Amino acid sequence: MPEFLAVTSRGLIDVLNDEVSALGLQVVSKGAAGVVFESNWEGCYRANLELRTATRVLKPVLDFPAYEPDELYNNIQKHDFTKYITPQQTLAVDASVRESAFRDQRFVAMKVKDAVVDQFREKYSGERPDVDTENPTLRLMVRVVKSQVSVSIDTSGDSLSQRGYRTEAGEAPLREHLAAGLVAMSGWQENVTIIDPMCGSGTILIEAALRARRIAPGSFRKKFAFQNFTGFQSDAWDRIVTQAIGSEVESPGVHFYGFDVSSRMVRMAKNNAERAGVDSEITFATSAVDVLTPPEGLKPGLLIVNPPYGERLGITEELKDVYRDLAFSLKRNFKGWTCWILSGNEQLTGALKLKASRRMPLFNGPIECRFLEYKING
Ligand SMILES: C[S@@+](CC[C@H](N)C(=O)[O-])C[C@H]1O[C@@H](n2cnc3c(N)ncnc32)[C@H](O)[C@@H]1O
Repeated sequence: MPEFLAVTSRGLIDVLNDEVSALGLQVVSKGAAGVVFESNWEGCYRANLELRTATRVLKPVLDFPAYEPDELYNNIQKHDFTKYITPQQTLAVDASVRESAFRDQRFVAMKVKDAVVDQFREKYSGERPDVDTENPTLRLMVRVVKSQVSVSIDTSGDSLSQRGYRTEAGEAPLREHLAAGLVAMSGWQENVTIIDPMCGSGTILIEAALRARRIAPGSFRKKFAFQNFTGFQSDAWDRIVTQAIGSEVESPGVHFYGFDVSSRMVRMAKNNAERAGVDSEITFATSAVDVLTPPEGLKPGLLIVNPPYGERLGITEELKDVYRDLAFSLKRNFKGWTCWILSGNEQLTGALKLKASRRMPLFNGPIECRFLEYKING
């Protein structure tokens, strides 16, 4: 049975691991790079369609030591790459190199590309795929650490994070897989209300609503890389998509609320939710955090918030006031609620003057953040 590797951001491996298992796929291992699972290609299709916290699904094909360029070239020949695409389709090789004898990543990428292209030339009397670094049919991911080379095929294409519903965003939107990861890490029970008091383009709530409605995160995408591979099983894919649509829930019995000080952001969030088909599940309104109150009649639930934290938005001193305002409203109006805050700035979370009951490290792109849980007792 082939193995696949579901990749995600640092800090989300455990929730991704749970998701892969929940799909009924056999987890083999989890590590810094992601979660390895054993499955036929149908499982790979489902993973691409349904995983909320993965950024891509790779198929590892080679893993070998190489000290010399010729060894690299010869080992690449041990896998038949001509079975994935035709010479009329296109190819790209992405390489990363760490502590290696090889000159640099460009050299490694070129050597691997030459080896793959030569396989095609030999099989197809000189015909070979062109290189297209932007939008290739087949993208190989090559990772060299010291003398160990691993080669994977990207089955996803564009990052799975790019669902397709968010065509409008503010200055610092959360990537969709990360927003889904926050919802999962919070331990959200699906009948519990979530409020995002600084919702920006609405990503956290839209991801929660998609989950509540069992809408597959990949259902907005036009294309996955595997659909263009030779041997793509379109019948199986159609069945998987039909099953996913059949599992959608019309009325999940839970509602979400998003607020933002900017009416422009609120408008964008509404439009994004509409494109995602979850606008009935979310109420968005303009409100500053210092006057934040729970909508009337609600039982205490969850707040999940990604306030500005200065790396990309605003200035730390000015932002401290925003965090103080948030803490003020929480203590005053949200007794019994649990609030999760994603922040990349300890000075700002310090300004909350609240004691976190849990702190989880998480990377938002290159920014090391903490996802902090506060139980609001009053
Ligand atoms: C980092 S962004 C949130 C991004 C969002 N998670 C997304 O995916 O688009 C922070 C948001 O906080 C909002 N904001 C800043 N100060 C605020 C305040 N005092 N009250 C309410 N919202 C505020 C900003 O308008 C911005 O949209």
